[in-house]
Amino acid sequence: MTIAVLPGSFDPVTMGHVDIATRAASLFDELILAVAHNSTKSPLLDVQTRLELASAAVKHLPNVTVAQTDGLLVEFCKARGATAIVKGLRGGADYDYERPMALMNRSLTGIETVFVTGDSALAHVASSLVRDVARHGGDVSAYVPAGVVEALRTAG
Ligand code: PNS
Repeated sequence: MTIAVLPGSFDPVTMGHVDIATRAASLFDELILAVAHNSTKSPLLDVQTRLELASAAVKHLPNVTVAQTDGLLVEFCKARGATAIVKGLRGGADYDYERPMALMNRSLTGIETVFVTGDSALAHVASSLVRDVARHGGDVSAYVPAGVVEALRTAG
């Protein structure tokens, strides 16, 4: 039984995340999408909203579950019996951002990070851009799963 964790802030979950979750779900027996705390960010959406939106976005994937984690990601992985962390890559900037985390997580516990290349049609889709476009009144419905547009509107 191979279990992997796909962590992130998911503020909000996007079609890019769903694409990576779909690809990773076909590689592992079980995938846990972990809504985690990034100490360098102040999320727009509260954690309960991010959890609900992420759960709805992957509910069609039978081997994917969604959970919250507040502590060290590697400890969450150990507690859940996960042997891999999955991260999506849109391009080189993502790799530069992810590489130190992958090295740190492996240094801490030996857990490997598996990088999955996302759909090139979604390479411009990032939670930060979605928030910014939505904040300025733009239409982000093509980039996010159902329910996210309304949640962003409510959050202001
Ligand atoms: O979507 P993000 O914000 O880029 O995801 C980053 C995240 C949440 C995966 C990262 O900040 C994280 O792993 N946080 C949990 C705490 C932790 O383990 N920190 C050390 C990372 S090497």
